[in-house]
Amino acid sequence: MKSLVLYASQSGNTKKLADVVYEVLPGDKEIFSIDETPDSLVDFDFIAIGFWFQGGKPDSKTSGFLPKLGNKKIFLFATHGTAKGSTHAQQGMAAAKELAVDAEVTGTFSCQGEVNPKVLEAASAKPETPPWLADGPGAKGHPDQNDLDELRLQLAGILVN
Ligand SMILES: Cc1cc2nc3c(=O)[nH]c(=O)nc-3n(C[C@H](O)[C@H](O)[C@H](O)COP(=O)(O)O)c2cc1C
Repeated sequence: MKSLVLYASQSGNTKKLADVVYEVLPGDKEIFSIDETPDSLVDFDFIAIGFWFQGGKPDSKTSGFLPKLGNKKIFLFATHGTAKGSTHAQQGMAAAKELAVDAEVTGTFSCQGEVNPKVLEAASAKPETPPWLADGPGAKGHPDQNDLDELRLQLAGILVN
């Protein structure tokens, strides 16, 4: 079995999750940023895809990529400013699943990712306050060690099944 980890990460939060996913995966594996996606995915039996939330959905690069996955076995992971487990977090992950329409989603994981204060400032100046903004300051320091340990456990559980 050959695995691929692909991730989009503008400010490094999702990359931290991607590195853990890569570490946990057994056997033959590769890791790339979404900007360096291999031309062909035929060699890969399992693909883990990491994204950051943008406008309540996977970031635009990942949103463009997910529909191209075909019927691959995948694991979706993400970071967001909104609180872990919030409705916004659930809806964003549901949007990712919808985009990966033909894929077999074996599991998902998401947690908060620190938001640049300038991004929070710009978002709060918008006429319509984004639903995740109130949780934004609480994302400071995430993903933290607990988040990474939880991801490790969750992925390990999926891999044995
Ligand atoms: C332009 C922009 C839009 C964002 N939109 C959302 C959003 O809709 N929902 C959310 O929960 N977080 C949102 N965030 C916060 C990021 O998803 C979060 O900080 C994430 O951890 C960034 O990941 P990265 O460091 O891998 O780029 C946004 C951040 C930016 C810069």
